[in-house]
Amino acid sequence: MDFRNKYGSWALITGATSGIGAELTRQVAAKGLNVVLVARKEKELAEHASAIQERYGVETKTISADLSTAEGIKKVTQTAEKIGLLILAAGIEVNGAFEKTPIEKELQTIQLNVVATLALTHHFSKSMVVNGKGGILLISSLSGHMPNPYFSNYAGTKAYVLNLGASLYGELKPKGVDVSVLSPGLTSTPMIADNGMDWNKTPMTAMDPSLVAEIGINGLGKRFLSIPGGKNKIMGWMAKHMPTEMQAKMNEKMMRKAIDQNKI
Ligand SMILES: NC(=O)c1ccc[n+]([C@@H]2O[C@H](COP(=O)([O-])OP(=O)(O)OC[C@H]3O[C@@H](n4cnc5c(N)ncnc54)[C@H](OP(=O)(O)O)[C@@H]3O)[C@@H](O)[C@H]2O)c1
Repeated sequence: MDFRNKYGSWALITGATSGIGAELTRQVAAKGLNVVLVARKEKELAEHASAIQERYGVETKTISADLSTAEGIKKVTQTAEKIGLLILAAGIEVNGAFEKTPIEKELQTIQLNVVATLALTHHFSKSMVVNGKGGILLISSLSGHMPNPYFSNYAGTKAYVLNLGASLYGELKPKGVDVSVLSPGLTSTPMIADNGMDWNKTPMTAMDPSLVAEIGINGLGKRFLSIPGGKNKIMGWMAKHMPTEMQAKMNEKMMRKAIDQNKI
């Protein structure tokens, strides 16, 4: 598929400076699209943008914005123009016993993972519908498909993203806009490097973010949902077919073993 013909010349990627978002940005640039990189830290944004410009010869723009705030969202919607491909990879997680986690951090997680996802998708889909073409890639998580005790609010935010994406896939397809959801399992990024979890105590194997990004991009225009990795696909299948109570109990046992015991 010729991405530039299909989606126009500019893509906007949030969370573009790290992990899965950084890989998605590189791979979109490699397909010849100009990229708008969005994250908070200006230095990282500038470094990533110039590396991409040099390596792929595309134009880049950066927007430093805290997307967990209304001002940050407004800055992006008022600055970025002519976006034909929207990729929302910025996300955060909180883990620990639900009653012990800081409510401010839980609310910030909803602001970034849910509110910013809704607001940016709503804003940029307008011009895509008018043009009769566009692409939107949303990043959920396997946590959005199943109960994930000790990550309860995070799991809730990712379930929102999954169902928003599924609904928009149906609604925007007849208007020429491709919507796809990428649901990674454990992926080797800074998000999981220092979050109080000993992932070796779970059966999960962390995937490489570049492969996760590639699978997400390949899903655009072809399918509603991409779950990278064989093991993760099996977990996604189980999430659909096993009783929810059983999954909640099983996952509680698994996560309790792996989480920093001071957090529960
Ligand atoms: N890693 C995993 O195992 C995994 C699994 C399933 C799903 N996911 C999902 O995949 C997505 C990417 O995760 P990742 O692991 O690649 O994360 P990551 O390496 O921690 O990168 C997060 C990115 O988001 C930006 N960001 C964080 N808070 C922000 C805010 N308030 N406003 C604007 N930008 C913000 C960060 O830059 P700044 O700090 O400069 O803002 C960074 O560019 C997330 O939605 C995550 O939930 C990850």
